Amino acid sequence: MLSKEHSALLTQTGPGAPMGEMIRRYWIPAFLSEELPENECSPVRIKLLSERLLAFRDSQGRYGLIDEFCAHRGVSLWFGRNEECGLRCPYHGWKYDVTGQCIDIPSEPEESCFSKKIKLTSYPLVERGGILWTYMGPPEKQPPMPVWEFISVPRTQTITTKRLQESNWLQALEGGIDSSHVSFLHRGDLDSDPMFKGAEGNRYNLSDTRPIFEVVESPGGLYIGARRNAENGNYYWRITQWVMPSFTMIPPRGGHSVHGHFWIPIDDENCWAWSYDYHPTRELTEDEIKSVVEGKGIHATYVPGTFIPEANKHNDYLVDREAQKNGTTFSGVKGISMQDASLQESMGPIVDRTKENLVSTDNGIIMARHRLLRAVKAFHDKGVTPPGIDPEHQKVRSAAVILPPHQPYKEGAREALIARPRVAPASV
Ligand code: FES
Ligand SMILES: [Fe+2]
Repeated sequence: MLSKEHSALLTQTGPGAPMGEMIRRYWIPAFLSEELPENECSPVRIKLLSERLLAFRDSQGRYGLIDEFCAHRGVSLWFGRNEECGLRCPYHGWKYDVTGQCIDIPSEPEESCFSKKIKLTSYPLVERGGILWTYMGPPEKQPPMPVWEFISVPRTQTITTKRLQESNWLQALEGGIDSSHVSFLHRGDLDSDPMFKGAEGNRYNLSDTRPIFEVVESPGGLYIGARRNAENGNYYWRITQWVMPSFTMIPPRGGHSVHGHFWIPIDDENCWAWSYDYHPTRELTEDEIKSVVEGKGIHATYVPGTFIPEANKHNDYLVDREAQKNGTTFSGVKGISMQDASLQESMGPIVDRTKENLVSTDNGIIMARHRLLRAVKAFHDKGVTPPGIDPEHQKVRSAAVILPPHQPYKEGAREALIARPRVAPASV
């Protein structure tokens, strides 16, 4: 359980909130590159960390992320005209460049330099690995660009999707590092989902529903090791990576692609669930890409033209009680991502953590909260740079390994937990 004060400290991410200010020190994913497919395409609205922003790509291909609203009288620039290296407000024609600088006020006399004094809030927007990343902190503190392995491999080896999740970011993150639910909630999918099935390790997941957790601090966050019994007294270890504030990487299964998430606050009651699949040493197959598009694995299908999942809280996630009864799915909800999202959203937008009853399998969650609290206090009180910003902290991998009973996983999987170009992941 967590006190009200600590819960508020962790869940509030608007401007000025300590956690909000801390998350603003990281590069975070904002858009899929395909949302701004060409020069002078339509601008795209977004809310991030409770700020309403607008992205556009100008005539020369430069990206900008600026305040959504015109500095004149507050019209949404989403209606703007994207033309001749700027975005023009359709109300009275004020025009802005990708840095938010006002470059034309056509109603003013030509000799007036008033436009020079007008600048909207703006943030950098940079493409890496099919994603447009932004940094919303103070310019002088901007860290080096992210180097996550899934955005560093060739584009044919990686694919990313995003969906709206109607819950606070921390609730989603806590689901991402709680690997004990896999043996229950996802048990129907382990052997049927095309992106999971057939792995040797699935057997251990399904046969041992009492994993022992060993959580160890890593430079950027935590290694969350879940131990299950394998043959001959050996242990099957699944080691999840969490890098602050919200990168998670699920341990691989067999020869499948590797996947994980980012959970990025939209406001305090909604977040973007980013989901990537990649393989460090090979291209993704046509079948894998098709599976992602069809919402298999950790991905979802959408209400057309949106990032709202097709199964969502307004249609009870299309729950199928018959499938729940006959065990096709454990909860009646189809698909791994919506199984997770449905339950995390069912807790309410910000779950009351003063009422929970945590058990030993919640160790990952408990330690992640501690690490976040420590980091946010040190950041807020003393200006200490939080873990996970240093690119070295981002060169991580999750792993699934079988180890003899006396070997600690930190030793047995030491090499496997580091991202190394052209080295295959450790997987069972
Ligand atoms: S409100 Fe945008 S130009 Fe007047
Ligand atoms: Fe899950």
